[in-house]
Amino acid sequence: MFASAALALSLAALASAQTTHTVTVGQGGLVYTPDTVVAALGDIVQFQFVANNHTATVSSFANPCTAAGGSFTSGFQPVTAGTTNFPEVSYNVQTTDPVWFYCGQKVPVNHCESGMVFAINPPTNGTNTFANFQANAKALANATSSGSSTSAGSSTSSAAASSSSVSIPADVTESLATATFEWQGAPYTTTYSSYPGSPAPTAGVAPTVFNVTVGFNATLTYNPSVVNANIGDIVQFIFPGGNHTATQTSFNFPCVPETNSDGTRVFDTGYEPVGAGVAPVMVNFTVETENPQWFGCMQKKPVFHCGAGMNFAINPPASGDHSFAAFQALAISENGTTTTPTSASPSSGPSQTAAGNGAAGLKVGAGALFTVVAGVFAFLL
Ligand SMILES: *[C@@H]1O[C@H](CO)[C@@H](O)[C@H](O)[C@H]1NC(C)=O
Ligand SMILES: *[C@@H]1O[C@H](CO)[C@@H](O)[C@H](O)[C@H]1NC(C)=O
Ligand SMILES: *[C@@H]1O[C@H](CO)[C@@H](O)[C@H](O)[C@H]1NC(C)=O
Ligand SMILES: *[C@@H]1O[C@H](CO)[C@@H](O)[C@H](O)[C@H]1NC(C)=O
Ligand SMILES: *[C@@H]1O[C@H](CO)[C@@H](O)[C@H](O)[C@H]1NC(C)=O
Ligand SMILES: *[C@@H]1O[C@H](CO)[C@@H](O)[C@H](O)[C@H]1NC(C)=O
Ligand SMILES: *[C@@H]1O[C@H](CO)[C@@H](O)[C@H](O)[C@H]1NC(C)=O
Ligand SMILES: *[C@@H]1O[C@H](CO)[C@@H](O)[C@H](O)[C@H]1NC(C)=O
Repeated sequence: MFASAALALSLAALASAQTTHTVTVGQGGLVYTPDTVVAALGDIVQFQFVANNHTATVSSFANPCTAAGGSFTSGFQPVTAGTTNFPEVSYNVQTTDPVWFYCGQKVPVNHCESGMVFAINPPTNGTNTFANFQANAKALANATSSGSSTSAGSSTSSAAASSSSVSIPADVTESLATATFEWQGAPYTTTYSSYPGSPAPTAGVAPTVFNVTVGFNATLTYNPSVVNANIGDIVQFIFPGGNHTATQTSFNFPCVPETNSDGTRVFDTGYEPVGAGVAPVMVNFTVETENPQWFGCMQKKPVFHCGAGMNFAINPPASGDHSFAAFQALAISENGTTTTPTSASPSSGPSQTAAGNGAAGLKVGAGALFTVVAGVFAFLL
């Protein structure tokens, strides 16, 4: 009893003296930043994985790129393109002796043999310095460079120029890459930070939620009126009051609900009357294409809201004849006089192609959301 109380006290004392050392993994290339840490017994080294798909694995000075049996590893920590929610893994410092680490990723190049190593409390002089440890790791590259491991996962990346057996320098600079990948049966295009030979990006797991207030401050506006979103992001329409809709339309027919082939609306919240003192109504719209998407409020009392400029767009061109300003000007100029696509354009019904957004391959699905088909990304590249 007394002993455990004493232990608890000493643990508390230890905890209060504990320092957390943050080490970012993969910031700008195949590096740990900082690459060495001076830590006391009981300190924590917190590895924050900021890019790519790395590990922090304990090895030994003699064998820099081989896991020391039974020792610590973070495991692979893939980082989603575009996320700011970085995985973190903590290591508890249990000795003041040097502890050596490496990245175990071998696809499409061997990270450790490219110099991606780290150490806690390395000697600053003598033989076992960090510089010598890193040199030993790099020396292994030439010893193993005849290997022919295949670069799984990099084939879809336009940045994947390196062959698997080529080691790349640790100071290689980061660049932006574009890649196409498949997620839930549909092809998507993404832009991500990369360097030659990095693995293919993964689909977003943490979408951005954009709040859009419908009838902001009791005016006929969506706030904001434009959102630039990635595939998988969510636009959360918030109706704080009044009696509005968020209804998908098209560029050419700004105030005419867009319909599926069976006549159902592509996306329409319907009227959302919200009285004073009542909690706002919220409706989510999932972004499934990077193409422009156009919206308006269909309320016609006492005036047609859409025709009064109550318009909204996702990913409109920033300028030119299909900008949001052009869309809104068209809505206002028509002021509800165009009620059906056919009355305005007898020869061709509305379509994404007619809207001039270049989405020749876009098909309207049977449900409330678009199905994205291959080909729509060509204009993005
Ligand atoms: C991370 O790398 C490991 C080892 O190469 C691989 O097995 C895993 O699939 C990768 N994860 C992702 C999400 O790319
Ligand atoms: C080597 O480093 C130790 C501490 O790590 C220090 O006490 C010693 O003076 C250093 N020796 C030389 C020659 O710099
Ligand atoms: C590996 O080999 C290349 C060319 O053969 C040489 O330039 C490089 O310095 C070698 N690297 C190491 C770490 O020995
Ligand atoms: C969106 O609005 C909801 C409800 O007011 C709020 O809880 C949430 O934090 C907001 N999200 C963002 C990203 O502003
Ligand atoms: C809301 O409307 C009131 C009255 O028209 C105005 O005084 C106020 O500045 C508006 N607030 C915002 C945030 O636009
Ligand atoms: C909301 O607007 C619609 C269309 O004008 C109307 O039919 C409905 O009665 C309104 N709801 C309320 C509660 O005012
Ligand atoms: C919209 O989606 C976000 C993210 O998944 C979620 O947090 C939020 O509760 C959703 N809102 C509604 C109204 O379903
Ligand atoms: C729009 O049409 C309504 C009648 O439907 C009219 O009262 C209003 O003045 C018109 N607005 C403009 C800007 O022409």
